[in-house]
Amino acid sequence: MDWGMKNRLGRIIKGGRTVMLAIDHGYFLGPISKLEDPGKAVSQLIPFADALMPTRGVLRNCIDASADVPIVLRVSGGNSIVGKDLSREGITTSIEEAIRLNVSAVAFSIYVGAESEHQTLMAFSELVNQAERYGIPALAVTAVGKELEKRDARFLGLSCRIAAELGARFIKTYYCDNFEKVVEGTSVPLVIAGGPRMETDLDVLQVVSNAIKNGAAGVDMGRNVWQNERPVAMIKAIRAIVHENMDVADAHKLFLG
Ligand code: 5RP
Repeated sequence: MDWGMKNRLGRIIKGGRTVMLAIDHGYFLGPISKLEDPGKAVSQLIPFADALMPTRGVLRNCIDASADVPIVLRVSGGNSIVGKDLSREGITTSIEEAIRLNVSAVAFSIYVGAESEHQTLMAFSELVNQAERYGIPALAVTAVGKELEKRDARFLGLSCRIAAELGARFIKTYYCDNFEKVVEGTSVPLVIAGGPRMETDLDVLQVVSNAIKNGAAGVDMGRNVWQNERPVAMIKAIRAIVHENMDVADAHKLFLG
């Protein structure tokens, strides 16, 4: 691996683990609860994040340019939660813009099995071609759209494997039963999304712990962190599990303070 690629990935995934903070939701969900003002929502969380995942608009307008945090730039979009086909995403942001914004990686959603499967897989491949030219890692997000029930090892294993084959340097997916099978079939690091807010704080910590124990490199979570009533306590507890292998009970105590 070239030095630049290694350096960028190494700034995001430290010692094999990472706690990424996703704040890209507005690109198709609009101003969702607690992310109406992304700058305000994350300013106190940035010191505990190994990387931040915004779109270029949020990065430019809401994030302090002196913030010392690697950026994984969401460069896909073109759809909305009220549109007909949530899978119809393309590249929204050029590689030159990503370089101008000094990003450490670019992120793109692929929709395996959806109407726009071919379009998103080809666009992701094109993004990999462009990003590799400059030593920038591409993150594939294995999106499921509104069909949350798709999150099983068979579907996610297929999506992750395809993403890795097309050149993803790391992948954002979901935790599921038999997650180790997904890891086994994918040759690059996996980070997990949180999805919609879980029922309890303990559930969030349990999912993170299970994911780490079963081979995830970390998390790229959004709603289950900044929609929490105590987001700083939550990201600190997640960090303890990811970076210190803290068990769930201790992480929960840490969360409760
Ligand atoms: C959709 C996404 C989201 O925009 C986001 O990054 C997901 O984070 P979370 O589910 O943890 O809120 O990737 O596919």
